[in-house]
Amino acid sequence: MIRLDSKRHHVYLKDNKIYKYFQDIASYEGEKKVLESYDPLRIIKCDNDKMLIIMTYIKGTSLLDILESCEKHDEINEFIEICLEVFESLNRFHKTFNNKLRFYDMNFKNILYDDQVYLIDFETVRPGDIRQDYIAFVAMLVMYNPIKSDFKMKVKKELLSYLSKTLDLNLSHINELFKSELEQIHARRQ
Ligand SMILES: Nc1ncnc2c1ncn2[C@@H]1O[C@H](COP(=O)(O)OP(=O)(O)O)[C@@H](O)[C@H]1O
Ligand SMILES: [Mg+2]
Repeated sequence: MIRLDSKRHHVYLKDNKIYKYFQDIASYEGEKKVLESYDPLRIIKCDNDKMLIIMTYIKGTSLLDILESCEKHDEINEFIEICLEVFESLNRFHKTFNNKLRFYDMNFKNILYDDQVYLIDFETVRPGDIRQDYIAFVAMLVMYNPIKSDFKMKVKKELLSYLSKTLDLNLSHINELFKSELEQIHARRQ
């Protein structure tokens, strides 16, 4: 049994399966409900009494590790390609819920990559404007260390310009939304 690094809950890897023990019933119910629609095959077993979900182990690298590696080797185009794949995954996620639910927690540790993108950690999923997920993603990106580096600001520029086209929002509106996401991240870090 290996304890994995988790923010809120107790997450273990055992026999190639993930054991996620939730600390409160709302988070447990929330994640279970989302997984049942988004990726039911990922669920191996749920135990309501223990607030435990046993799920398949995804062998992948976190997007945070990929960001650090791409930044170190100045692989900007490779990184942008992966971000666009993340956007496709978010789009598939949103469509599953008729564009009514946001993934919301855009922590790059909640995105795994192994030739394809896997979203994990669904307990903060909530109703909202799905366009904010994409903007929150870019805001999270620039706030990882070293914050607002040249590499990150170049990626940010490309992604916001891409989003202004695909989300049908003009660039100044996108920039406003982006600024507000940055302020929220600052506030959370106080
Ligand atoms: N299905 C999975 N496959 C592989 N690793 C996982 C899986 N679920 C969680 N993890 C790992 O465990 C960590 C914590 O799990 P997560 O669901 O994000 O919990 P928390 O809500 O506490 O952040 C993740 O960052 C990831 O490294
Ligand atoms: Mg997490």
